[in-house]
Amino acid sequence: MTWQATVLTLYPEMFPGPLGLSLAGRALTDGVWSLKTVNIRDFATDKHRTVDDTPCGGGAGMVMRPDVVAASIRSIKDLPGPLIFLTPRGRVLNQAMVRDLAQGPGVKVLCGRFEGIDQRVIEAEGAQEVSIGDVVLSGGEPAALIVLDAVVRLLKGVMGSEQSGDEESFERGLLEYPHYTRPQVWEGLEVPEVLVSGHHEKIKAWRQRQAEDVTRRQRPDLWDRYVEAKKVDK
Ligand code: ADE
Repeated sequence: MTWQATVLTLYPEMFPGPLGLSLAGRALTDGVWSLKTVNIRDFATDKHRTVDDTPCGGGAGMVMRPDVVAASIRSIKDLPGPLIFLTPRGRVLNQAMVRDLAQGPGVKVLCGRFEGIDQRVIEAEGAQEVSIGDVVLSGGEPAALIVLDAVVRLLKGVMGSEQSGDEESFERGLLEYPHYTRPQVWEGLEVPEVLVSGHHEKIKAWRQRQAEDVTRRQRPDLWDRYVEAKKVDK
């Protein structure tokens, strides 16, 4: 079954973009997933094809009109998957949300531009608001590329057998241990000795320790959750 992505956007030319290359691009060609873009502007009704208007209550920028956006959403009502609206106001994306999407039949992604989209249409259409993190992008499109990239790599047959995914960052609640390859000495810097020892138990223990150390240092929020989960496990 092909996993179906549908993107509602004012900039369909931004897709597939980077998703047409590498792992995701191959999977797209192979029919593991499909990508349909819908140009929101095609649902404008006036001769200037207007999609936005000034904000009620005043303030900077423009807001996307609910009638135009709703018509674009309704045009894809029979396509599979939840409707996601990408916005810095949303729940922050995480690997659990990505896994859920990958297990479903697809996703419909609504991308906003300007100051945003009239909130009435978001609520009326039951769109889930999702943010890719505490940064402000120029629009939802780069966020959509991120969401789709994260999902597509989890689809069956996209990643090689080299990675089942469960050794990765976040899958075990820890960041990943560091990686090294040859040459064993590069510009006077050596690969950690344990990694060339051939001692698999020691390597495993070293990697676990490294994963814990980096998580504690860089992501105390993840670390606290990891420690809590361990307590509950016992
Ligand atoms: N649009 C602009 N910024 C965004 C963000 N951080 N996440 C999702 N969509 C966005």
